[in-house]
Amino acid sequence: MSEKQNAVIAVVGSAMMDLTAYADVVPEPGQTLVGKIFTTGFGGKGANQAVMAAICGAPVHFIGKIGKDVFGDAITENFKKVGINISYVDRSDTHTGVAHIWVDGEGENRIIIIPGANHEIEVNRAVDAINSIPNLSLVIAQCEIKQEVTVAAFKAAKSRGCTTILNPAPFEKLSQELIDLCDWIIPNEVEFRELHGDLPTSDEILKSFRPGKNSIVTVGSQGAILINSDGTIIRCPAPQTTPVDTTGAGDSFVGSFAYALSQGHDPVSAMEFGVKVASNSVTKKGAQSSYPDQAEIRTLS
Ligand code: RIB
Repeated sequence: MSEKQNAVIAVVGSAMMDLTAYADVVPEPGQTLVGKIFTTGFGGKGANQAVMAAICGAPVHFIGKIGKDVFGDAITENFKKVGINISYVDRSDTHTGVAHIWVDGEGENRIIIIPGANHEIEVNRAVDAINSIPNLSLVIAQCEIKQEVTVAAFKAAKSRGCTTILNPAPFEKLSQELIDLCDWIIPNEVEFRELHGDLPTSDEILKSFRPGKNSIVTVGSQGAILINSDGTIIRCPAPQTTPVDTTGAGDSFVGSFAYALSQGHDPVSAMEFGVKVASNSVTKKGAQSSYPDQAEIRTLS
């Protein structure tokens, strides 16, 4: 994939430390089980998407907040290592966000997040960041930070002519103002049903999601479905894999899709690239720890 050096991506979003327990089966209420493996790893939907876009080759700014604690220090070092600009990563007396994750023998996860400092990102700070990042072309957000911050950041982004992508995860009710500010909304199947009332099982249901606007529904091992603003539906199947951990796969799709779009690729080829990247990520454990490196990315491009 050829690179446009000056197309900068900003992610306004969450950074978390993931505390993950792997077990063949997960406990019932009141049950204690012996698991297999415990890991700590870098996560948070915003940070995952930013890291994926940066590994692909995009210049990325992260706009967020972490605690003045060891998790915050480690996340800062990780951002620096990946080459993400952290001028707008602020520190708080509130703890860094954490995610408690269970992964079962099928690679499926259950996640509880405690947002901590992520919920303290200030509207004015996010707007200042969006207004001042040079060559900004695309802004990504999710729902692990306060919605008012995303609305303000997307308003600023739209007035600069940037493309906006919302990954509405985890589900929360979206204001009409936010929906209108999104060039792209990228839910998974469950979030699609929560937002729209039905699973994405037919073209009619898909077309009635956001008529006149672009969306993509990620459908796990089935790949992804693009709903074009002109009403056409394009399905992209995923290559067959044996998943060991699906954590962060959707984020790797969003980050790599955004990268490809920012490089001027058409949405269908950007989606195809995102599906390949996300399918690769489920074959390894963890969120960011499962992402293909730059050498692997070249083979997927
Ligand atoms: O999407 C996966 C992410 O969700 C994990 O990394 C975890 O931090 C939660 O935010």
